[in-house]
Amino acid sequence: MPHSPARPDRQTERTRWTRSADAWDRWADRMAEPADRMNQPLLRAVGLAPGHRLLDLASGTGEPALSAAALVGADGLVVATDLVASMLEGTRRRAAQRRTDALHFSLADMEHLPFAAASFDRVTCRFGLMFAPDAVRAAAEVARVLRPGGVAGFVVWGPAEENTLFRELAAAVDSVLGPDPEAGMPILFRFAAEGSLAAALAEGGLEVTDEQPLRLDHSVPAGRPFWAPTLDMGFAPRLTGEPAERLAAVRETADQRFRDLAGPDGMVPVRLHARLCIGRKA
Ligand SMILES: C[S@@+](CC[C@H](N)C(=O)[O-])C[C@H]1O[C@@H](n2cnc3c(N)ncnc32)[C@H](O)[C@@H]1O
Repeated sequence: MPHSPARPDRQTERTRWTRSADAWDRWADRMAEPADRMNQPLLRAVGLAPGHRLLDLASGTGEPALSAAALVGADGLVVATDLVASMLEGTRRRAAQRRTDALHFSLADMEHLPFAAASFDRVTCRFGLMFAPDAVRAAAEVARVLRPGGVAGFVVWGPAEENTLFRELAAAVDSVLGPDPEAGMPILFRFAAEGSLAAALAEGGLEVTDEQPLRLDHSVPAGRPFWAPTLDMGFAPRLTGEPAERLAAVRETADQRFRDLAGPDGMVPVRLHARLCIGRKA
């Protein structure tokens, strides 16, 4: 299956994520528990075990690198990497609080990994591959740095219409600020089509052993800002520098959109649909 035509540009991504770093660091600790509900299936699916050497790509503020470091233990190693230094700073800060000796850091573009061939047992990449302009090249780099028999796990977003928070917040932001000139949503959902992620991994030389949906649906009371972390983190580059009244208008629009989704019990159904794909180095 062909990938979506939305293609990121490395410099635009670097700028976007540099502008997002403060918001991500601000929310990272408070979002750790929901984040771990996605980390654990990923770490289980790659079969991460004590003593493993794991490379985590696009670690951002530390998901799933911090959970992985706790799992591999003192005899293992986790290398947290990212294209953007200020995003990785959040992982460093959080790691320092936990005194995790297993965790190491490296600035790294996933298309050009600064590691020797066959140096890792496992590779993870949570919500990162879609931002690599050449995802096939990134997959080929993963295949190169994995040891034979090593396993890589990737998590990407499923369809936008099945991700309530992004869908409603993008509509709220666009309605106040106008359309996004950088096509952030099409890039975010670049591998939403079933089979598209598996195709990129296979083209990069990984043997795809599993692709499965990850769904975390829940209900939340309308009128509460449960959407605030996603608005801050996901839309920071667009919102930074906007005047206070426009930011207030975005929040009011978002709040109204979620109230409109609530059922008679006042609860808003919030759907989350991601996709997990596992590749093996032959
Ligand atoms: C959505 S965040 C994901 C962070 C973390 N893995 C998580 O799930 O919370 C995407 C991250 O990808 C990083 N990124 C974008 N392009 C990259 C590239 N070519 N190589 C490595 N990291 C990249 C960004 O800097 C950002 O930190």
